[in-house]
Amino acid sequence: MLLLLLLLLPSQVDAQHVSGQKKNGACVCDVNSTMWSFPTGEYKATLQQVTTCEESLNSLQDKVELSSKRLPHMQALIKNMTDRLEPHQYLNHQGLYTNLALYKLGQELSQVETDIGDIHSQLNNAKTQKLSKEVGKLLKDVERMQVSKTINMKTVREKLRYLKNSAESCRTIPKDFRGQDSYCRKGLMSNISEPVTTKISPYGKSIISGSWGKQAQMDSEGQKNSYWVQPLLNSHIWGNTLRVYQTYEDFMASVNHKDFPVAPSFGHANTIDGPSAILYGEALYYHCYRSADICRYDLKSNSVNRVTLPGTGVGFNNKFPYCYYDCRANSDIEVEVDETGLWALYATVGNHGNLVVSRLLWDSEAETLNVTQTWETMIFKKAVSNAFMSCGVLYATRYLDDYHDEVFYAFDTATGREDNSLTLPLEKVAKGVASLSYNPTNKQIYMFNDGYLLAYQASFSPQFDMYNTK
Ligand SMILES: *[C@@H]1O[C@H](CO)[C@@H](O)[C@H](O)[C@H]1NC(C)=O
Ligand SMILES: *[C@@H]1O[C@H](CO)[C@@H](O)[C@H](O)[C@H]1NC(C)=O
Ligand SMILES: *[C@@H]1O[C@H](CO)[C@@H](O)[C@H](O)[C@H]1NC(C)=O
Ligand SMILES: *[C@@H]1O[C@H](CO)[C@@H](O)[C@H](O)[C@H]1NC(C)=O
Repeated sequence: MLLLLLLLLPSQVDAQHVSGQKKNGACVCDVNSTMWSFPTGEYKATLQQVTTCEESLNSLQDKVELSSKRLPHMQALIKNMTDRLEPHQYLNHQGLYTNLALYKLGQELSQVETDIGDIHSQLNNAKTQKLSKEVGKLLKDVERMQVSKTINMKTVREKLRYLKNSAESCRTIPKDFRGQDSYCRKGLMSNISEPVTTKISPYGKSIISGSWGKQAQMDSEGQKNSYWVQPLLNSHIWGNTLRVYQTYEDFMASVNHKDFPVAPSFGHANTIDGPSAILYGEALYYHCYRSADICRYDLKSNSVNRVTLPGTGVGFNNKFPYCYYDCRANSDIEVEVDETGLWALYATVGNHGNLVVSRLLWDSEAETLNVTQTWETMIFKKAVSNAFMSCGVLYATRYLDDYHDEVFYAFDTATGREDNSLTLPLEKVAKGVASLSYNPTNKQIYMFNDGYLLAYQASFSPQFDMYNTK
């Protein structure tokens, strides 16, 4: 990189003559920084040539040989340049850095422009037209900034994130679930009841981490009313079994269960990693052992399929667990479900450790687990205690005290809007929340509260809606 940089710098880097002025007993002089600014245009052109492979392999070979001969000379030059730039490190920061960053932003924008173009060609409507316009405008802004030096990187990054999210929302969740599907026309969640179920886990209070719930697929055959518990029996981190009860009564009495062997050991690639699981239809979906993958264990065939989550530096092994107050071991990646299907919640280095939401789809014909869309939020994952999805909206909680958590944040994947003014308290029996998930079949929320299993009834209100209030 440094080499390339050097090649592109102006050929003569003459010393600059500046005149000084005596002021308040010090010598003050202005330095013209233009000569050190990064020649973005030339860098782009070179990169283009390399990537489009316009050069034949032979001439590339020649260049490599030439380069290796010139290497010592270049190294000396770099040393010389570095020494001379040393007193002007701040320029490095203000000039080189921002130009490079702007260049990268420009690249990302072009990608978004291409994506939106693709969507637009399939789905020409007012929303995609508006998006195309916005991207065009932002591209112009970035170009102008490269010239004018009035740069607000934060604003541009935020605009870029907004556009990316909007493009994902445009890709559309198969049917217009807000319009046609009656479950999701009720606005945001407005209240959460006191616990309607409270039970000590069948594995006892000493197993403090895991997940539990009710079959989450509306039209699932055999398993319609089944309840399940997925305990993390090894170090409160790893699990390899799923316990299923056919009825609520059996679950409450802890009788007549069936155990499924999800993985042969606690260190197998298919082992359940962290409190992450959801039973949906005939399969258990969960975060798989020490990976950036989501696994799907089929209860009928005992087979496991997996998909790798998208993003730069997907966090696992306690890189980005839920951490508000206490960190919950290995809660980096989890699966959630709502009226629209399955979701993965996690965080990436690329999104600065903020929560990322991906839509998961089981393609039963191709027998593959797919990620179809991904949104980036602005909420730092380690600053929340847990999260769940309902009607395409992500809800996040924080710790209030040993006996209460609170839903305080919502992010709507349909619009990319966020709201952090919610205050919906959740009563707890114990301090730690290992997992929290919503069930679309009965609108209940399930909490694995250290060794206790709690369920709540959620209600929704049209007055409580980001679309109406903002
Ligand atoms: C800085 O130098 C560039 C060319 O090297 C010149 O075009 C520009 O006018 C100079 N700026 C100032 C403020 O002197
Ligand atoms: C760098 O090179 C220039 C000439 O190209 C020379 O005058 C100067 O002394 C060198 N500086 C250092 C620190 O080596
Ligand atoms: C909201 O939930 C609380 C319990 O958390 C309950 O006491 C209250 O009655 C509920 N309010 C409504 C309007 O349902
Ligand atoms: C899922 O991914 C597979 C392989 O990448 C692809 O063949 C299939 O069409 C995808 N299915 C859907 C519904 O996107």
